[in-house]
Amino acid sequence: MKVIKSVPAMQQYSLAAKKHGKIIGVVPTMGYLHAGHTSLIDLVRAKTEIVIVTIFVNPTQFGANEDLSNYPRDFERDLQLCEQHGADVVFAPEPDDMYCADRSVWVIEEKLSRGLCGRSRPEHFRGVTTVVAKLFNITLPDVAIFGQKDAQQALVLQRMVRDLNFPVEVIVAPIVREADGLAMSSRNRYLSENERKSALCISRSLFNAELQIKKNGLAALGEILSSVWDNIREAGGAIDYVEGLDADTLEPVTEHTVAILIAVAAGFGRARLLDNILVKIKD
Ligand code: PAJ
Repeated sequence: MKVIKSVPAMQQYSLAAKKHGKIIGVVPTMGYLHAGHTSLIDLVRAKTEIVIVTIFVNPTQFGANEDLSNYPRDFERDLQLCEQHGADVVFAPEPDDMYCADRSVWVIEEKLSRGLCGRSRPEHFRGVTTVVAKLFNITLPDVAIFGQKDAQQALVLQRMVRDLNFPVEVIVAPIVREADGLAMSSRNRYLSENERKSALCISRSLFNAELQIKKNGLAALGEILSSVWDNIREAGGAIDYVEGLDADTLEPVTEHTVAILIAVAAGFGRARLLDNILVKIKD
């Protein structure tokens, strides 16, 4: 496995691979890898000839009071995991090599990124779209994979690829959970033992909501969402949002809705946790 830190070296590697007709897959990450990330590597490994994992804690997607400087890092362990899962290249640039001091171009998605996390993190998604567009231009992938764990991010990036004609196939991979249901996240390490126990109410109440919808449809959606809200509140969570939206548009559910996304963001201690479930309501 190769570790590449320089932007031009990464681009040259991918250009050469493309010249040889290789199919390239990219797994963008911010490191501190867990089984959710490695599931993405495995899925792309099975579909492509060259797998590039990018590890870059992207400063432009963090707000002024967020956890950029404390974001967990363990580069050596990340490299071991990438190697074990058959990555060919880890691309790990430094912020100064990714961003020029006088940069003045952003990629901005203007619809799907406004609600949910975009409401409390207004500049977050332009950081995500901009860095992923740059990573695409540097690694030149045929296939890119993102996790359903960050459902809004996956939709925003699919929209970016469609609207800007990136020649990249986007795969969205299922959420990987701990045995007790907690969605895996690099930020789970901020949780104390008690906070972690309390945070289980998020996945529990989402699974319960899924059962209710499968049994009774969307007639009682308001009550179902309120009970998710109450459960998380009672467990001590600081709720940012609990919403049930059309999973394709992130708009309110209509008679055309095929699948509903129930998405939660809530704080437990220092950790802002995201989770969601996708429930198909029509074929
Ligand atoms: P990061 O939070 O490191 O996540 C990298 C990828 O792993 C994302 O596509 C995310 O959705 C996916 N992922 C995280 N937890 C997961 C889980 N439990 N199951 C399945 N997939 C999971 O998301 C980012 O980094 C950044 O915003 C990035 C896209 C790299 C841009 O900087």
